[in-house]
Amino acid sequence: MIHRSMDTRTSLPAVAVKRQKGHAGLMGNDLVVEAKGLRKSYGAVAAVDGLDLEMARGEVLSLLGPNGAGKTTTVEILEGYRRRDNGEVRVLGEDPQRAGTEWRARRGIVLQNNEDVADLSVSESVRHFARFYPSPADPADVIERVGLSAKRDARIRTLSGGQRRRLDVALGIIGGPELLFLDEPTTGFDPEARRTFWDLVRDLAKEGTSVLLTTHYLEEAEALADRVAVINHGRLVETGPPGELGGRQHAPAQVSWLVQGEWRHVKTPQPTALVRQLEETFGGEVPGLTVTRPSLEDIYLELIGAAAGESGEEQLA
Ligand SMILES: Nc1ncnc2c1ncn2[C@@H]1O[C@H](COP(=O)(O)OP(=O)(O)OP(=O)(O)O)[C@@H](O)[C@H]1O
Ligand SMILES: [Mg+2]
Repeated sequence: MIHRSMDTRTSLPAVAVKRQKGHAGLMGNDLVVEAKGLRKSYGAVAAVDGLDLEMARGEVLSLLGPNGAGKTTTVEILEGYRRRDNGEVRVLGEDPQRAGTEWRARRGIVLQNNEDVADLSVSESVRHFARFYPSPADPADVIERVGLSAKRDARIRTLSGGQRRRLDVALGIIGGPELLFLDEPTTGFDPEARRTFWDLVRDLAKEGTSVLLTTHYLEEAEALADRVAVINHGRLVETGPPGELGGRQHAPAQVSWLVQGEWRHVKTPQPTALVRQLEETFGGEVPGLTVTRPSLEDIYLELIGAAAGESGEEQLA
């Protein structure tokens, strides 16, 4: 994970650059992603509707947002996979719509939905994709890193859903990308595989890879992201470090304890004072004592709910 200091008045953390993989000619401010006023419609549906997004080199940024918010469309435009209707976009210093093969080799992609590759084994497909890159990682090493060594000779069509997803991740990192796009990479992973994957992303980040990750698992965003960006209706709702989103760090804490088998709950900005008072009252250990702050999920749901209310979007009863 990167070390950074956060200036809460600006949207971007100051990032300590750790590694530049020998790529000269970094753009100003060392941003790997700059999007301004990004728009994309499918017929009458404005999937991306004036989105502004920036991402610093070395950052792990997580895009959060409900189904249909425009995350995949945004990511695919940044990857150079989809054309935008409007807006300015620079990714690794170039316009993804015009960038050539050299640029493409510098970013790695894990799509939300993959078309099936030919009837290859795991090892064959990783080696096959390695050939597209000027300085790929070692295929056996990558297969090991995603936990597929035992399946290296298995045909892709025989893999389980989670194993197939791990292969997608392997193909995303085989080129040794500077910037890695992960669109819901851990969907279908079992809990252990998810933890292993988190370690892999942390290692990549430590090595200096910038990572743009979409996920519906809030604990995944919390575990991995230096910063999250909440998107709804194709627009940026709010961005900040997971611990500070929506003023989370200043939110009152809930103190709960038991009195003769019944729960008491109090919300307070000064939980320490209350706990001290409770300790005195009980003359020691306070039964069932817990102190909690709003989770990232609580804050996220609040932000999404507020945004839905503002836009007059119909809501389910
Ligand atoms: N190829 C397409 N043709 C028509 N409409 C599309 C297409 N792709 C996406 N859309 C629409 O654009 C909107 C945004 O879709 P997108 O896939 O970007 O959302 P998302 O945030 O990635 O959602 P999810 O969390 O479900 O993956 C949705 O309303 C979707 O129905
Ligand atoms: Mg999506």
